[in-house]
Amino acid sequence: MTDASSREDDVVDAVVETLCAAAPSIRAGLPGRRVYEEGTNPSGERQLEADTYADELLLKRLRPLDGVGEYASEERSDVIDVGEGVSVALDPLDGSTNLKPNNVMGTLYSVYDEPLPTGGENLLAAGYILYGPVTTLVAARDGVVSEYILESGIKRPLREELTLPDDPAIFSFGGRVNRWFDEFEAFARETERTEGMKLRYGGSMIGDVNQILHYGGVFAYPAQTDAPGGKLRQQFEGFPIGYIIECAGGRSSDGEKSLLSGTPEGVHDRVPVYIGNDSLVESLEARLK
Ligand code: AHG
Ligand code: MN
Ligand code: MN
Ligand code: MN
Repeated sequence: MTDASSREDDVVDAVVETLCAAAPSIRAGLPGRRVYEEGTNPSGERQLEADTYADELLLKRLRPLDGVGEYASEERSDVIDVGEGVSVALDPLDGSTNLKPNNVMGTLYSVYDEPLPTGGENLLAAGYILYGPVTTLVAARDGVVSEYILESGIKRPLREELTLPDDPAIFSFGGRVNRWFDEFEAFARETERTEGMKLRYGGSMIGDVNQILHYGGVFAYPAQTDAPGGKLRQQFEGFPIGYIIECAGGRSSDGEKSLLSGTPEGVHDRVPVYIGNDSLVESLEARLK
């Protein structure tokens, strides 16, 4: 291992530890921040006070880290220059519309060795902290996915080398049902391939993808008839989830190619997302051609 890559390892570890240490403060800040701010985020979506709270808290914690050069998040228009080194892209609170109905949500991170916006090939690490009944971390690095329980911000190993189960169980499609292409209905009616699968969709990509990691299946936020780029953001959601799923032996796609093969023009560009067991995602790609 060269000095540069071991230095990178140290920086990635410091970023992940910092995010883990912030998790209790993020969870503690949720109850009092369940109302919308004025205005919208760069994607034109309403922001909860919890969204901006998590974003400000994480910037404050990450800014002083040695080796972190840039900070970008779904909640702010511009990439922030915080020094020299890696670029950290965050979805500070993914699934924040789940806050009012008290459903799961999480913090999604991706670390790149190039300035943002940048392509998936420049990913160094990605993962998420899931605020569920317990707080867990799923971390992907160097082709391996590991899961941890977080207690008071300290991570304790739960599962090493997570891989997708072979037999898919969960079918999790987001978006407006009346804006799906007909293919999804046809896909859902396929008997041999979808035998035994059940629909589970929770409104937080992290929560839905975590189910796919545990039970197998497919998660999609498809292109919509009136939104060909779908809803999810390439830099903050598509790349990290694509990386995690591919490290776990699954397949990711934007409908044609791996999510990791894209390069956004802008840091808030959107991308259709299809991830899960290889055969299922491959079959969806075939339908979409
Ligand atoms: P965020 O809360 O960070 O804006 O992300 C929400 C995303 C993703 O988590 C989820 O899969 C999808 O939006 C849910 O969209 P719908 O509300 O349209 O189902
Ligand atoms: Mn949002
Ligand atoms: Mn999100
Ligand atoms: Mn978010």
